[in-house]
Amino acid sequence: MTKQRVAIIGAGPSGIAQLRAFESAKEKGAEIPELVCFEKQDDWGGQWNYSWRTGTDKYGEPVHSSMYRNLWSNGPKEVLEFADYTFDEHFGKPISSYPPREVLWDYIDGRVKQSDVKKLVRFATVVRWVEFNDDTEMFSVTVEDLKTGETETSEFDYVVVGSGHFSFPNYPDFDGIETFPGFVVHAHDFRGAESFANQDVLMIGASYSAEDIGSQAYKMGARSVTMSYRTEPMGYDWPEGMEEQPGIKYIDGNTVHFVNGESKNFHAIVLCTGYLHHYPFLPSELALHSPNNLYPEHLYQGVVSEVNNRMFWLGAQDQWLTFNMFDAQAWYVRDVILGRIALPSLEEQRAHMATWRQRFDAMETADDQIDFQTDYVRDLISQTDYPMFDLHEVARILKSWVQDKKDDIMGYRNATYRSVMTGTMAARHHTEWVNELDSSLERYLNEPEADEVRDIWEGREAVQRR
Ligand SMILES: Cc1cc2nc3c(=O)[nH]c(=O)nc-3n(C[C@H](O)[C@H](O)[C@H](O)COP(=O)(O)OP(=O)(O)OC[C@H]3O[C@@H](n4cnc5c(N)ncnc54)[C@H](O)[C@@H]3O)c2cc1C
Ligand SMILES: NC(=O)c1ccc[n+]([C@@H]2O[C@H](COP(=O)([O-])OP(=O)(O)OC[C@H]3O[C@@H](n4cnc5c(N)ncnc54)[C@H](OP(=O)(O)O)[C@@H]3O)[C@@H](O)[C@H]2O)c1
Repeated sequence: MTKQRVAIIGAGPSGIAQLRAFESAKEKGAEIPELVCFEKQDDWGGQWNYSWRTGTDKYGEPVHSSMYRNLWSNGPKEVLEFADYTFDEHFGKPISSYPPREVLWDYIDGRVKQSDVKKLVRFATVVRWVEFNDDTEMFSVTVEDLKTGETETSEFDYVVVGSGHFSFPNYPDFDGIETFPGFVVHAHDFRGAESFANQDVLMIGASYSAEDIGSQAYKMGARSVTMSYRTEPMGYDWPEGMEEQPGIKYIDGNTVHFVNGESKNFHAIVLCTGYLHHYPFLPSELALHSPNNLYPEHLYQGVVSEVNNRMFWLGAQDQWLTFNMFDAQAWYVRDVILGRIALPSLEEQRAHMATWRQRFDAMETADDQIDFQTDYVRDLISQTDYPMFDLHEVARILKSWVQDKKDDIMGYRNATYRSVMTGTMAARHHTEWVNELDSSLERYLNEPEADEVRDIWEGREAVQRR
């Protein structure tokens, strides 16, 4: 009998989780299908595979990563830790709770680099089109090898989409923005705030990008940072020089007029207006159409496409949890493909989705959202052999993170948490985040020479230096 074939689209944390899930079954003696993972970039890691480029990459493809040079994790690492590969195992010593992106890429890479799965990834290969043939009940997947420009089409029994949904910018229009003479950029193309020193900058949006790019601008010495919200302000206790304003009425040259009648001149505008679920390689009947939320519709167990039960989505939700949630999803998908989990009838799938959707619609607070996603992940893990971990504790850490930010938005990254997997307490980073201008892995992992700012932060008298 010929082996079944599975196409995995994307080798970000989700696609890698899928490869790892099958590998784990194979290590325990299971027969696994033939896997081909298509990744349009030259390396894996998805968003964490940083690119200095903006717009298009060296192959002319849209740049995938929306991360910036000095990005640090905005949630505690203790909530994303892999259950089968801990931070202790990777780094051999406790590290802080909020590592910079390079450190997290190293951790993702470390779990799989010794394994055989990298050879299953076809790098620099973009998926151009996917179709399902009702007669053969197979998917035709057309890809382009970006190095040679050659296209080819092959058949697969299953398709797993792990292409991410924070890459295609949502670009709303603002009355008069075309008259603004300064720098206008979407968060997707933002790479660093150094050029904002001594400038008045405007962030449009009131979520993670606005908060973090605004904080970067503050850190790099912007003269003022204004954040404009459409629905609700973030409401943090911002340091002097940062403020929130409601929506924009219109823009006239350098001057931005807000709906409350106030106005201010700016040098630069960053659109922190989120991303679109956009899948140019899928016909509309197979694509996912959803705003960014915790329960996109038509995904049974959050992963199985209702329209075609042989197609799966990883990481399609908005994310309180990331790496370990992708693992939970990938283990579940693996077990459906291996026939270990039998999918119920379409009617039962719909009833199951309706129950979750009801709970989703009733959510009011951040705590509700955290409980929703941690319950979802627990439910998935309980159906597979992925190591179960204490998701109540993960929820507790997330709730305490939300409080840390309310207490001190510039200082929350100095907090430390205990690993849910190993019980190890995180180390305190040697330098307070707001004073740390070097986000490299090397500086992060090594104790730097004494410096005055750190002495003051740690309450020591500054050591005498030449
Ligand atoms: C600015 C920013 C900061 C973030 N910070 C954090 C954080 O601090 N902590 C955290 O836990 N999470 C963070 N996230 C969330 C992040 O999305 C997840 O951590 C994770 O990267 C999602 O993994 P993924 O594999 O689902 O998608 P992605 O990481 O987006 O990977 C998708 C992969 O698919 C590939 N691909 C896309 N289309 C195609 C195609 N047609 N053909 C072939 N390959 C394709 C891409 O090249 C990419 O490698 C952040 C996200 C953003 C945008
Ligand atoms: N590690 C880090 O430090 C870091 C930094 C940045 C981003 N991220 C991650 O990146 C992901 C995306 O975050 P995000 O903040 O970019 O997107 P997001 O969470 O989807 O938020 C989008 C924001 O844009 C606003 N918006 C949309 N259309 C608008 C319009 N027409 N006018 C005004 N405002 C509009 C929304 O306002 P409404 O509230 O009114 O809808 C919302 O505030 C998240 O997973 C986040 O964790 C992480």
